[in-house]
Amino acid sequence: MLVLGIETSCDETAAAVLFAGKQICSNVVSSQVAIHRPYGGVVPELASRQHIQNIVPVIQQALDEAGVQLHALEGISVTQGPGLVGALLVGIQAAKSLAFVLGTPLVGVNHLEGHICAPQLSTTVEQPPHRHVALLVSGGHTLLVMVEGFGRYRLLGRSRDDAAGEAFDKVAKLLDLGYPGGPVIEQLAVEGDGAAIRFPRALPRKDELDFSFSGLKTAVANHVRKHGVPKGTELGDLCASFQQAIADVLVRKASRAVQTSRTCALVAGGGVLANGAIRNALNRAAAKEGFALFVPELELCTDNAAMIAAAGTRRLQAGEHSPLEMNALPRLSLDGC
Ligand code: KG4
Ligand code: ZN
Repeated sequence: MLVLGIETSCDETAAAVLFAGKQICSNVVSSQVAIHRPYGGVVPELASRQHIQNIVPVIQQALDEAGVQLHALEGISVTQGPGLVGALLVGIQAAKSLAFVLGTPLVGVNHLEGHICAPQLSTTVEQPPHRHVALLVSGGHTLLVMVEGFGRYRLLGRSRDDAAGEAFDKVAKLLDLGYPGGPVIEQLAVEGDGAAIRFPRALPRKDELDFSFSGLKTAVANHVRKHGVPKGTELGDLCASFQQAIADVLVRKASRAVQTSRTCALVAGGGVLANGAIRNALNRAAAKEGFALFVPELELCTDNAAMIAAAGTRRLQAGEHSPLEMNALPRLSLDGC
């Protein structure tokens, strides 16, 4: 089955052509980071406008790179939610128009299910078992999900306030480091000492799997208020200490989720997994506690349309179609709650 995937839930306009649910024929991502950088975060109105400008060229590029004509498509899969409503609507309208004109089956998928499916597209990561825990950590989400099998999900924990990526972005803004915050903080942290400043680890209760990162952000703000914006070695120490606090919380909660759900596998994805220190910390925990860790390569960890096509292919193959009246669901959850 040859499926076109379309993803516009946040600030990436993406389209991909996928064959047989796992062979990536093309995977085009047009990032809007430069547009949002001056504002220190994603501006929803600007994101929608940029998607409108990019969507047709990005789809065209995905078809060209795959060497595929529109009429050869056997399915169209589009992110239905969660995400920014104006941004989602652009991708959904493009998908509906193509499905209407071509008479091709259409399916709306959950963006988070796309992240869960990403390892199946990886050429370097072996396939996780059907039953596993998924850790999704991006600018919009920090979630632990029990995956009982494709389409069968149970939310184990989520951030009660900021997502981990959002905390990276807000701390970077506080330190005047620009947007997005993750890559620059990681770079500065390389020279720093992660034990230099003891920032709080919000672990609501040991047996609870929810996260909270706003206290950490406030602790960094208080530190800056007291000592001023650091420079040189002190800036490296602050970045490393902040990053260490995030890594510790993610590792502890993810390990706990694997233990309590009696699985032996953790799939991790989302932009924050681009962070080498966080990946290393998860790898160490996996080795120590004896579970298998699956982290797809970076371009499949961050938002992309190949993962949306992968999830959509599974649903289309199961006979699931969405009507042309399909609407955006900005608060769509994985388990219906
Ligand atoms: O998954 P993603 O590309 O987009 C969504 O938010 O959906 O994730 C973007 C987030 C941003 O908050 C960014 O600061 C964070 O991922 N990020 C990182 C790194 N690279 C990107 N966080 C920590 N370390 C990084 N190297
Ligand atoms: Zn995402």
